[in-house]
Amino acid sequence: MKKSIADLGPLQGKRVIIRVDFNVPLKNGEVQDDYRIRSSIPTIRKVIDQGGRAILISHLGRPKGERDASLSLAPVAARLEDLLQRPVTFVADTIGDEAQKAVTSIIDGEVLVLENLRFDAREKSNDPEFADALAALGDVFVSDAFGTCHRAHASVCGLPARLPSAAGDVILKEIEELSPLLKDPPRPYVMVLGGAKLSTKIPLLKNMLGKVDAILVGGGMAYTLLKAQGRKVGTSRVDDTMIETAQEILEELRNKSREGGTTMILPVDNVCAKGIDDVSGFVVSPGDLPDDRMGLDVGPETLAKFVAVLRKAKTVFWNGPLGVFENPPFHLGTEYIATYLAHRNEITRTIVGGGDSAAAARQLGIADRMAHISTGGGASMEFLEGQSLPGLDALPEK
Ligand code: 3PG
Repeated sequence: MKKSIADLGPLQGKRVIIRVDFNVPLKNGEVQDDYRIRSSIPTIRKVIDQGGRAILISHLGRPKGERDASLSLAPVAARLEDLLQRPVTFVADTIGDEAQKAVTSIIDGEVLVLENLRFDAREKSNDPEFADALAALGDVFVSDAFGTCHRAHASVCGLPARLPSAAGDVILKEIEELSPLLKDPPRPYVMVLGGAKLSTKIPLLKNMLGKVDAILVGGGMAYTLLKAQGRKVGTSRVDDTMIETAQEILEELRNKSREGGTTMILPVDNVCAKGIDDVSGFVVSPGDLPDDRMGLDVGPETLAKFVAVLRKAKTVFWNGPLGVFENPPFHLGTEYIATYLAHRNEITRTIVGGGDSAAAARQLGIADRMAHISTGGGASMEFLEGQSLPGLDALPEK
């Protein structure tokens, strides 16, 4: 078990650097989804409630090592102030004079947010001098950026090598919720898998084969698997370079299901149209797709098959929308399954694997009925692929 904030001893008067993942979507300078900011509140409170001086650091977007005004953390600091309901100071500097001045002038229980770490290319290259300069700003370090733990960057791996360190509440909760998914959670254990590209889901699929009882597949990735089975998929976006890999996975599955292991259910009907903007010309097509149409969502028969499996499930891991969620009416399959799982929350524990499916759950207003929504996108995927995350490895055990 990782060391927690309590293991750092009294924090009164200490400068506590907290690495958060405030990489949130912005539009016209406004935070669009503050889930990651809200998730960090318990850790920040734990530090400031005991008189620690919270120095928050994060990246935002991918600014390529240069200042980019559109990726400043200023609007994020403003949202944090609203959520915390206490003043938050923002400084448009990360390790320079202004940042150093700010960390010497904050008082016990105050919160300071420094500027985007990635405005300096040395963050991503885990540069030792940059990590030294960051470490000089604090007395102790709390890592709470689970979403960035798959990156071996200076603020993620360099800091715990230089300061007494602990995991914050976000990281501890993610480990507690995601670890059982790799072991033997209450069964039946079902994975609902969607999203556009099969290639990004292959390692997850491979690691979960044999662990889960069933895999229900939707989204764009399903069409590559269907084509690999010899089905006609019309003009659906298929990754032809993945056909062979898809066939290997299907073969492995056939062997697994013969042994009574994992079964996979692919769409048996699809909502398809001429393109994603063809919102009125869509048809529901059973079996093979018409030559001139692309699959954009799972159809009703598929949903019925999915529900027949999910109604028995005790644990569900959901990653990826089942259709083009952002283009109604192709959101309906995702909405149906997400709402179904929300209604069954007393019988089925559903864990949502971050990224687009987490955003969909929040948009549908069902997030609070999911057992856990990961703050990680790539990080939760890599965790469930069975990979070790450098940002977690860097944190000390109790
Ligand atoms: C994420 O949003 O997945 C994390 O914040 C990591 O961001 P990155 O993929 O730009 O490193």
